[in-house]
Amino acid sequence: MNFYWSPEINPLVLSDKGIKLAHFSDLHLAGRQDSRRLERLETLLEAIIKAGCSHIVISGDLFNSTEPSDWMVVREILQKKNLYSWDKVTIIPGNHDLINLEEEMRIYNALNPGAGGKAKRLRRKMKEFCSVFRELITGEDAVAGFPYIKVLQYGDISISLVMVNTVFPWNNIDNPLGARGSIKRGELEALFDPSVENALRDSFVIGVFHHAYRIYGTDVLLDQAFDWTMELKNREELLHTMQRLKASVLLHGHFHRFQTYTVGGIGVVNGGSFRLNPRRYSEMTIKSDGSFEQRFVDID
Ligand SMILES: [Fe+2]
Repeated sequence: MNFYWSPEINPLVLSDKGIKLAHFSDLHLAGRQDSRRLERLETLLEAIIKAGCSHIVISGDLFNSTEPSDWMVVREILQKKNLYSWDKVTIIPGNHDLINLEEEMRIYNALNPGAGGKAKRLRRKMKEFCSVFRELITGEDAVAGFPYIKVLQYGDISISLVMVNTVFPWNNIDNPLGARGSIKRGELEALFDPSVENALRDSFVIGVFHHAYRIYGTDVLLDQAFDWTMELKNREELLHTMQRLKASVLLHGHFHRFQTYTVGGIGVVNGGSFRLNPRRYSEMTIKSDGSFEQRFVDID
C-alpha cells in the first residue's frame, strides 16, 4: 500500500468556511491537435482555481487514445497553471487511457493469444500512466501503483483520497468493448490492512475510481445489454471496502452523466463528462465537523 502525506497545507484556512474540492471526468480529448477542447480545459481549470478549490480530481478517460505523448499535453497544461503537484491534483486513468481496443481486437483476430498478453499490456500501460503523472501520485520520482492514498491536511480539516483502479483487460467474451470494470481482489485486500485504518482515522474519506457504481438501467433488453458492457463487475465488494474505510463520498466518471446518488449510506458523485459539457464541474465543500455539500457548478 502506498501512502502519501501532506505537510500542513494552508494552515490558516478557516474551518467554518470548509475546504473546496473540484471533480470532473471523461475528457475524451482527441489529442494534441484538439486545440479547441484543450483551451476549454484551461478555461475550466482557471474557473476552478478562481472558485478557491484546494484540490482537483480527474477521474479518467483523458483521451481517446492510449498514447503517453497525448497524456503529456494534460501534464503541460497543469504545469502551466501551476497545478502540477500531488497535493493539488489527482488523476486516475480510465479504460480509454489504458486499453487500445483496435489493437486488442487486431491481435486477437491475428493470433488468438491467451489472457496473459492482455493483462500484461494493461499493466504496462498503467505503469506508463503512473510514470507520466508520477508527481501527481507520489510528489517524487518513484513510480507508484494502485491502490494509493493521499492524506491532505488543511488546518483542522483532514481529507483522504483513496484511489482504486477499476480498469481490467479487454476480453472478447467478458469485456468485448473494454468498458467493463473490475477491481483486483488483491487491491481491495490491501485496503483492509490495519495501516490504512490508522492513516484514515479522523479524516474525511473520499473513494476515487473510474467506473460507475450505478448505470441507469431500464427494463428494456437493449438497455440491459448496454449496461452490461459498461458495468463495474465487483461493485458490491468495492462498496463494502469503502464502507469499512468509512468513506463519506465516492467519486467516479465513465458513464457520461452529471449525477449524484447514494449507495449503502455513502454519497456518490458522477463527474459527468467534460466532452459533453466542458463548462461544468462538481464542487464539494468539506467542513471540519465532517459535513459536506456538493453541487454542480456551471462556469460563466
Ligand atoms: Fe470510461
